[in-house]
Amino acid sequence: MAKTIYLCGFMGCGKTTIGVKLSKMMGRSFVDMDDYIEKKHHLTIPQIFAQFGEQTFRQYETEAIRELSHQGNLVVATGGGAMTIEQNGTLAKQNGIVLFLDAPFEDCYHRIAGDSNRPNAHSRTKEELLELYQTRYPLYQKNSSYTIDASDSPLMIANRILQLYNR
Ligand code: S3P
Repeated sequence: MAKTIYLCGFMGCGKTTIGVKLSKMMGRSFVDMDDYIEKKHHLTIPQIFAQFGEQTFRQYETEAIRELSHQGNLVVATGGGAMTIEQNGTLAKQNGIVLFLDAPFEDCYHRIAGDSNRPNAHSRTKEELLELYQTRYPLYQKNSSYTIDASDSPLMIANRILQLYNR
């Protein structure tokens, strides 16, 4: 079973854009974990946060990773908080590799500022988001298998991942 590739990193680092591109280049199925959770629970992410709180959403993420970890050959874009939790990284690495997309804060910020579909961005000022980015950064590093420089175009980054994978 070919190892599933899990992309992690801060909101707006490009996990979905790069994941879609990479999955096409590799001929694999792509799973966006946020979409997966929304479909499974018949609720949007903002609804889950509003009705049940972030803790419940985190439990849904762990369940999703556990379910996906039984499959190989996927490219998975995880949500920005998923790989801040060690247990999720351990689960994902059982049959997969976890890649941290290391994009500069300013790039992420411009993509997420004011996005009402992202409760954790919407509820924070720029300064607070920077603080969250800095708190999470070492956790992404710790819970991933490799760190990928994600400051270029999605195509360049997808190619960089392919090179690493085929090495
Ligand atoms: C979150 C990131 C989101 C989504 C949820 C929480 C976070 O995913 O999982 O809104 O806490 O960073 P993206 O990273 O795809 O925005």
